[in-house]
Amino acid sequence: MKRGHIKEIDRWGMIEKLMRFPEMCEEALSFRVEPPKQKISRVVLAGMGGSGIAGDLIRDWLDPSIPMETCKGYLLPNWVDGETLVVATSYSGNTEETLSCFSDAMRRDAALIGITSGGKLEEECNKFGKPLIKIPPGLPPRVALPYLFFSTVVIMKECGIVSRRDEEIRESIKTLRELREKMDPEIENNRAVVVAKKIKDTIPFIYAPPPLYGAAKRFKTQLNENSKIQAKVEFFPELCHNEIVGLGAAPKNVSFVFFRDVEESEKMKVRIEFTRKLVGEKKAIELRGEGKGRLSRILSLVYFGDFVSFYLAILRGVDPTPVEEISELKTELTRLPQS
Ligand code: F6R
Repeated sequence: MKRGHIKEIDRWGMIEKLMRFPEMCEEALSFRVEPPKQKISRVVLAGMGGSGIAGDLIRDWLDPSIPMETCKGYLLPNWVDGETLVVATSYSGNTEETLSCFSDAMRRDAALIGITSGGKLEEECNKFGKPLIKIPPGLPPRVALPYLFFSTVVIMKECGIVSRRDEEIRESIKTLRELREKMDPEIENNRAVVVAKKIKDTIPFIYAPPPLYGAAKRFKTQLNENSKIQAKVEFFPELCHNEIVGLGAAPKNVSFVFFRDVEESEKMKVRIEFTRKLVGEKKAIELRGEGKGRLSRILSLVYFGDFVSFYLAILRGVDPTPVEEISELKTELTRLPQS
């Protein structure tokens, strides 16, 4: 794919930002935050869309020994209390669901930390003296994922929820740099372009086992927002209890993307292979993360999927950056009386 051609479609320059993914990860690792004084027994990661996905990825990676939930809505779970750490993440700082969770956390005396590039979330954190990680502004929120993800990692480290994972983190950034080399648009047989071509003009059904739920969800949402196509995501083993019925008769314009991982148990492998046979080998694309550690495998799949969604946008002749429907709805909501 020629750079000149990309430039004509990618008017807001998403490719340059995508290429900075590994550096954004490193930059975020140098952020600092004051940990809360109270004891932390539970964690809620609150955020929507491109900000919220950071929480899904953290949970997949850590599988922590204390309860950790993501919250994608206006209200926190009922059990949130003074021993709960609530991380409110909104890139713009103006997402109303996340701001509502912030207020909810205040009401319940939870330990509260914000991650944002500015907006009302920054104002609220300053007003109430809550710790905040301020990340660089000027990006589409979903492109800021490395900042959002590793800011959350920093918070987890400061709170003692993540320890002795530095080597795994280093490996993941090295893997991302190596992957980037292979993602250059002008490289012949660029695998992301190959996958994008296979998916083009289809509705991808993405199927993933743990610990790749967040990575698969990210791929789906990037196909929505960057490529402007519909896609769906389902998870193993749950999909084996519903989705597989009638799968052989799926419409012709559906493609199937299987996320695979070295952590699959023998039974999980049987489930995945069984499902693959149902969809027919020809239609199935298999994606695996790179590297040894779980974090490296998760993040490399995220990064690869980001490139696929970007190249698919170019193949479809659509600018990957604008998300008009999301912006329009947000504007409409701001016209309502604010509570
Ligand atoms: C836009 C994007 C969206 C936003 C979501 C929440 O690039 O990815 O999914 O992330 O609308 O907005 P923020 O992240 O500003 O809280």
